[in-house]
Amino acid sequence: MTSAPDRTPTRRRVLPAGGNGSLWQARPSCGIFAFRGTRLRIVVEDPSEVLFPTDCGLSLLSALDGDGAPVLEGVSALDVGAGSGLYSVALLAAGAERVTALDINPASVAQTVANVTANGLDGSRLTCVTSALEEYTPGERFDLVITNPPHLPYDPSYARGDGLETALVARRGGRAVYDAVVDRVDRFLTPGGSLLMAHSSLADIPRTVAELGSRGYETETLEIFEMDIPLLAYAEHRETLQLRLKELRAAGRAEFDGSRFTVHALLFRRPGGAARP
Ligand SMILES: C[S@@+](CC[C@H](N)C(=O)[O-])C[C@H]1O[C@@H](n2cnc3c(N)ncnc32)[C@H](O)[C@@H]1O
Repeated sequence: MTSAPDRTPTRRRVLPAGGNGSLWQARPSCGIFAFRGTRLRIVVEDPSEVLFPTDCGLSLLSALDGDGAPVLEGVSALDVGAGSGLYSVALLAAGAERVTALDINPASVAQTVANVTANGLDGSRLTCVTSALEEYTPGERFDLVITNPPHLPYDPSYARGDGLETALVARRGGRAVYDAVVDRVDRFLTPGGSLLMAHSSLADIPRTVAELGSRGYETETLEIFEMDIPLLAYAEHRETLQLRLKELRAAGRAEFDGSRFTVHALLFRRPGGAARP
């Protein structure tokens, strides 16, 4: 399986096979998780339109709760592909000064606002933007960009045309949103700022690390999580999806072992400026 892209010894967690949702604090349907001492709840009203957070998304928060995670108090953050608002809620609860939640899906933006409000957080610290990342021109730079991009390769046979597809599937072998983040992050981050990414081993981690590294970004792997490939939403297209993934693996662009893959909680620091601790 994938090795860490830097030299720091990295904690590896193996999540149980045969399910998803093991990182929720209670049953997944309750949507309860703890982050930096606060108990938070995420609700998704229409799971075919807005992704109910998976272990892949939760793994980044779990890593951010661990040793060596960056300070979040007082930061201004951009949540790219906010989905249910999982990261926006957690960041505001952890003391972020301002969070901008961006998603191409208007239902995600509405769900993010609802979850921020339902958790009793100050909505005046949240800005919501419905836009593709590729078309977004912010009027400011952020200390932190956080994202868990879609990571499954697109195939026309399983195109659903709904929000769940937008959340899970991407063109260019599942890399389209990763590429958009890598291409644009310099426009969004302050010098010395951090990009926090849940990076799937199905979407060519070495390429992201190499491209950002060539621009002077330092990479730190906070944790690696091994888990099942989330095929549930695509159960009837399992064979096609696995075929696409095997093609990517043969081309050196995906790493997985049977039904297991890894998600790397990556912290990239932009060079320059006075880096935050
Ligand atoms: C894997 S989901 C992550 C949702 C949430 N952050 C989480 O971890 O549970 C990816 C999100 O990215 C959004 N998205 C997909 N393509 C996008 C694009 N080009 N620009 C902005 N958002 C996009 C989807 O609508 C979806 O909400």
